[in-house]
Amino acid sequence: MAVLITGGAGYIGSHTCVELLAAGKEIVVVDNYANSSPEACRRVQEITGKQFPVIECDIRDAEKLAAVFRDYPIDSVIHFAGLKAVGESCRVPLKYYENNISGTVTLLEAMKAADVKTIVFSSSATVYGEHNQVPFKEDMPAGGTTNPYGTTKYFIEIILQDLCKAEPDWSVSLLRYFNPIGAHESGRIGEAPNGIPNNLMPYIAQVAVGKREQLSVFGNDYDTPDGTGVRDYIHVVDLAKGHVKALDRAMQVKGCEIYNLGTGRGVSVLELVHAFEKANGIKIPYVIAPRRPGDIAYSYADASKAKEVLGWTAQKDAEDACRDTWRWQKNNPNGYEG
Ligand code: NAD
Ligand code: UFG
Repeated sequence: MAVLITGGAGYIGSHTCVELLAAGKEIVVVDNYANSSPEACRRVQEITGKQFPVIECDIRDAEKLAAVFRDYPIDSVIHFAGLKAVGESCRVPLKYYENNISGTVTLLEAMKAADVKTIVFSSSATVYGEHNQVPFKEDMPAGGTTNPYGTTKYFIEIILQDLCKAEPDWSVSLLRYFNPIGAHESGRIGEAPNGIPNNLMPYIAQVAVGKREQLSVFGNDYDTPDGTGVRDYIHVVDLAKGHVKALDRAMQVKGCEIYNLGTGRGVSVLELVHAFEKANGIKIPYVIAPRRPGDIAYSYADASKAKEVLGWTAQKDAEDACRDTWRWQKNNPNGYEG
């Protein structure tokens, strides 16, 4: 039997493919390459020495998806496919609602038609919104999202919860990722953003490689120890391993479960800059800029549920992630484009 990986050519998807293969699973990838390159899956095959089917397919294409379920012995799905740029989602919300929500509904219908009822979904800490206090815990009220991207994650969580209420034979795992950073230690796969990076770590990496002059630190007047925003940075390889654990659990337990995947530790913007400098011996020039709209001061996980139930905890720290990011960035200054 095989696991269908939607969005498997993307940043988190490609790392998860490596860990699933290492755990002896069969996988099938679908991706429309809206934000990725076919090269990523070729490199996963190179790293693991294992071949697997990779199909160019948009999850909104019901017929093509049905054919994938017909052609391969799929018994579960890990659903990464989605658009994720927060700023763009504010400019073109319908594109996000259509791709992320319609795409997920089409996928769920295809699963149901094929009698595949186990799904692990990429949700986000963004569903904790603005009103909860850190550390964020799975039983806190979700919602109050500050942008359409975050709202798609919240709505999809509701859709999957409603599905489990109506049809108790589904197994759903909602994984709320905190801030994924880092790269595979081979330096062959990593995060390859198009254009100017929105997120902190890829921006730091592009400053380090000389593609950007300096980092703008968005605000140093938050109520945090050094005034800059605090996040829970989770190494993408740890995150990928969390998916293997969540999938194994979902294969055994019916109903909908929610797990934070984070380290439980908060790191400020300046701490991450200094961790990068220390790990790699490279100075990162920065300026203090105004706050970015929609940002909160603190976001970090209570990571105890994933530890207790899944037996998963993050093993790597921010310095490991900085070292791995730099290895990926310097070997691949233009991402997968050579
Ligand atoms: P990514 O953009 O690298 O990967 C997403 C993949 O989905 C890409 O390969 C893209 O081409 C594909 N895709 C998008 N729309 C598709 C469609 N309609 N049909 C088929 N494929 C499609 O992003 P990522 O960082 O790997 O994130 C994976 C998932 O995790 C996303 O759902 C994202 O929203 C979620 N997530 C990411 C973060 C983060 O900071 N990276 C945080 C929380 C949640
Ligand atoms: N930051 C800067 N300069 C930059 C980029 C970011 O100072 O150039 C700061 C931000 O203000 C924030 C921190 O670095 O304090 C982290 O910002 P990111 O953009 O890297 O990450 P966010 O926490 O804003 O968002 C991430 C994902 C979202 C997800 C959210 C969940 O990008 O998809 O985590 O909390 F929804």
